Amino acid sequence: MIPQAGAILGLMAPNTDFFETIDPAAALRNRFSDAILRALGDDFRDSDPVIRATTNPEFGDFQVNAAMGLGKRLKRPPREVALEILQAVDLDGLAEEPEIAGPGFINVRIRTSALVEALNSIDADHLGVAPSKDTHPVVIDLCGVNVAKQLHVGHLRSTIIGDALGRILERRGRTVLRENHLGDWGLPIAMVLHRLRIAGIDLDALKLVDLDTAYRDGQLVTKMDVRGMEIVEDRNIGPHRIIELEEQNEGAQQQRNAAAETLVALQQGDAELVSDWQKLIDCTMRAVVDILEKLNVLLGTEHNRGESFYRTHLPGIIDTFVDGGLAVRDDGALIVRFPDRERPMLIQKSNGGYLYATTDLAAIRHRVVDENADRVVYVVDARQRDHFKDLFDAARMAGWGVTPDGHDVEMVHIPFGSVLGMDKKPLKTRSGDNVTLASLLDEAISRGRTEVHRRAGDENAPTHGFSKEELDRIGEGVGIGAIKYADLSNDLVRDYVFDMDRMIAFEGDTGPYLQYAHARICSIIAKADEDPDVVSNAPLIIGEPAERALALQLLQYGPMITEAARHLEPHRICTELHGLAETFNSFYQQCPVRKAATDELRRSRLRLCDLSRRVLADGLGLLGIEAIQTM
Ligand code: ARG
Repeated sequence: MIPQAGAILGLMAPNTDFFETIDPAAALRNRFSDAILRALGDDFRDSDPVIRATTNPEFGDFQVNAAMGLGKRLKRPPREVALEILQAVDLDGLAEEPEIAGPGFINVRIRTSALVEALNSIDADHLGVAPSKDTHPVVIDLCGVNVAKQLHVGHLRSTIIGDALGRILERRGRTVLRENHLGDWGLPIAMVLHRLRIAGIDLDALKLVDLDTAYRDGQLVTKMDVRGMEIVEDRNIGPHRIIELEEQNEGAQQQRNAAAETLVALQQGDAELVSDWQKLIDCTMRAVVDILEKLNVLLGTEHNRGESFYRTHLPGIIDTFVDGGLAVRDDGALIVRFPDRERPMLIQKSNGGYLYATTDLAAIRHRVVDENADRVVYVVDARQRDHFKDLFDAARMAGWGVTPDGHDVEMVHIPFGSVLGMDKKPLKTRSGDNVTLASLLDEAISRGRTEVHRRAGDENAPTHGFSKEELDRIGEGVGIGAIKYADLSNDLVRDYVFDMDRMIAFEGDTGPYLQYAHARICSIIAKADEDPDVVSNAPLIIGEPAERALALQLLQYGPMITEAARHLEPHRICTELHGLAETFNSFYQQCPVRKAATDELRRSRLRLCDLSRRVLADGLGLLGIEAIQTM
């Protein structure tokens, strides 16, 4: 447990925990909320004091804006209300005497002693990040590649975002179960198996291209009748063509039948088929693992929880819905209806076959009932929105909205947007194919390396004289950092343009900018050549406005992580770290470190440098981006 630091930022309500006490904004919120209650009475219990950081530090650090809204509600001049709040507020130990400005804003300046005290308390491994009290696991469903299908950019996003969310929740001490819901079961896979067999491909020498071809051919066969007949009917193409098509379709029908038989045999555990099927998975996973390693994500084959894992659960799922009267037969198929929408959820086909949705019901049941997760997070592209809405509603109907120990389950779909090319259309190669994941990563890595090598050519660069291997390794971190940051720094649901030039730039809202900021602080500290023990014990001196700004920025880190974890929004971390890098830059411009006026001041500033470095490294780590030491 974290030590209780009672006096931090003065008097706190007894039920607020340590971490709220290191957050000046939270402390002010408590104090002013109490004051509003005292000044205006019980009707105003728990009103939001509306605390905002000031844009101009001359007026203090924070503004309390509540009097505007309260004045309106009370039909009294806001300034008068502000005055009453001021008379009631107890800011002892926390802030200087506040002032009323304009129509009724209250300007507050945190006491330097309170800032120093708070900084001292975050200067620990936790850096001010509050541990979660929830001991239930969280499931993160990420990656979701499909056996025999090329990995595409959507799987890249799912993996990067899911990994970052996992790291953020783990940072707060949550147990995270990363689960890769591999598409490894069902008719398409059986069709691929069948196609590979008739093509006479040696499965022990199976290559990804073979799988890809078999998958595509299989898809063509599956869709043939529908497509062909549609065209014939649409365009009135004539009897010859119809006969031809019918013959073709007969062939296709035979193949579909063969695939269906293959599936049945597979489901019944035919030893040879199962072993062949495993070879398909292994081949797909070899390519995936290659990519996961490049990506530096905490995901490996041990996290595979493919659709096949749930295959024996499916009949039980159907029973649950039928026995509970939650599903009805409709033209032979089994569907779940929802009170608020037309669209039903299909959970069993009329031929008895199961669907993607059936497996997902089995998976969510398993996660909640067997794994006791109280938060299940699906990182899947936005096009599957309806599917997850149906899934979550159906799961709640079946009683899986509560863990076995009675905790409400939060089911979340994190819908993310597409990655677009420079032409604002979905990324395509020149030949019009979908861009593969592997090619994107290779490009990023090679661009990162080129940039790092180019910079190292400069005699004054800190990397000048590094070996080719060292520079390549740094370049790889830069390239991957660039991709990840671009992926995480926006609202996830937005499409974004894959603009390598912009992403890899060392200036602007980019990963390399933050990596560079980190490396720069490392170099400032190294050049100062001061005993780290002396620095970490040096008393902090917060005098200059730039030191104050840096202190306030550093104190935001912990509370921000709590918010990022609550809302599952990695971009909050990006914004925070970017702000920190900029605040640090102006601190470093305005407050000489090595040439500080006194030894005490130098050491205090070095300690601020070190704290900034650790917060940056911690945040980059949560984004899965390497905090590079020298670049
Ligand atoms: N394999 C699916 C696809 O590529 C994604 C799986 C997402 N996870 C899930 N539980 N449905 O579309």
